[in-house]
Amino acid sequence: MCSEAGAQGDDVNATSTQDVRLPQQGLSRETIREELRRAARGDLEPVPAMAAGVQYPAGDDVLEVASDAYLSFFSTNGLLPSIFPSLARFEHDVISMTAGILHGDRAVGSITSGGSESILMGVKSARDRGRELHPDVSEPEMVLPESAHPAFWKAAHYFGLKPVRVPLGEDLQVDVDAYRRAMTRNAVLLVGSAPSLTLGMVDPIEELAPLAEERAISFHVDACVGGYFLPFAEQLGYPVPCFDFRVPGVTTISADLHKFGYAAKGASTIISRDPDIFRHQVFRFGGPERPDDWYVTPSMTGTRPGGAIAAAWAVLMYLGNDGYVRLVDRTMRYLHRFWDGINAIPGLEVMGRPHMSVFGFTSTRLDIFAIADGLEARGWHVFRDSYPVPAIRFMQSPGHEPYVDRYLADLAEVARLVDRGELVSEGGRATYT
Ligand SMILES: Cc1ncc(COP(=O)(O)O)c(C=O)c1O
Repeated sequence: MCSEAGAQGDDVNATSTQDVRLPQQGLSRETIREELRRAARGDLEPVPAMAAGVQYPAGDDVLEVASDAYLSFFSTNGLLPSIFPSLARFEHDVISMTAGILHGDRAVGSITSGGSESILMGVKSARDRGRELHPDVSEPEMVLPESAHPAFWKAAHYFGLKPVRVPLGEDLQVDVDAYRRAMTRNAVLLVGSAPSLTLGMVDPIEELAPLAEERAISFHVDACVGGYFLPFAEQLGYPVPCFDFRVPGVTTISADLHKFGYAAKGASTIISRDPDIFRHQVFRFGGPERPDDWYVTPSMTGTRPGGAIAAAWAVLMYLGNDGYVRLVDRTMRYLHRFWDGINAIPGLEVMGRPHMSVFGFTSTRLDIFAIADGLEARGWHVFRDSYPVPAIRFMQSPGHEPYVDRYLADLAEVARLVDRGELVSEGGRATYT
């Protein structure tokens, strides 16, 4: 007898099975369309709202290229390259182009569903490599700056590594001496970001990665944000610290196609310096009891949506090097105006020294969340953060440019109100006095 109990949970992502039932008879296509339209009305309009990390608008043409490719490969499966050789080719091409961008002459890798999965695979690969190269280490550790993305803590939890967190210095940059001190003999993986999510600063990878090489342990660069942006900023002559395979000791790099690669959601890359490092990433089911060796997967998932792989290939091919350079150029030009505008508002300052269009601003004397409330009251979507101090955060794409002047005008007005005590935050909400 089957149990009556439904799957319940108090987890944030768990949903009740009690309130919606499968309709006895299916709904009409028109009803479905209308329901979908209605449901979407409650969603954020991401571009005008300058919402951080929601969309990466790079132009309607880019969006069309991605969605055409996605829909053409809508129900194909990247798990089965022999049945879908098209996807095998697209994945090969995307990895090869990415390896070129990141200066990995012998690099190999795979496409994953997103930055978190790429990080999971980088950590899993490092753990298994550590087991092979350092069999004496029974309680492996991962050393990482406290500004690293939470996915590393998730990976540590999944794969049984102890995360060892290194604080930032006063300049919000990684303290290299503290980092070195954090490396015990159990360290099998060191981590750096290019750049970190909250500060947009590239960690001193050139100083950190050689520490891994000296000990024959792994170094993962989280370039989920910068992987398809910083190389083009470098081509434009912006001062970008070296973070890729040109740095000795870097073993794996994650770079997200669905962020500043401007591809469809559900696509990232995880690249290994060479095939020997990559081998630790792969799970191979088979052996004497199951000689049919078809479940050979380089990532967490089995089935992989072919649409996301095809869209990534199409956007990379469509933009080409010149297209990315053009989009980065446009972003960096308005970004400097944006930063200057924020810093010119009394009491506000951009945090640290960001290397790209991911950054936050804070205040040493104004209540930043009262400012957030005031901006929300004017219709802006605000990404509040509390690390390393209370701040408002941004991830800026080319398509956000038309909104910058209006945003700065509202920000200046709201900051003035907060400064004069005419707008205060009470329990996170704004009250006008
Ligand atoms: C620096 C960095 N790494 C990793 C991730 C995780 O990416 P995803 O949300 O695609 O899993 C993010 C997401 O914003 C990020 O900013």
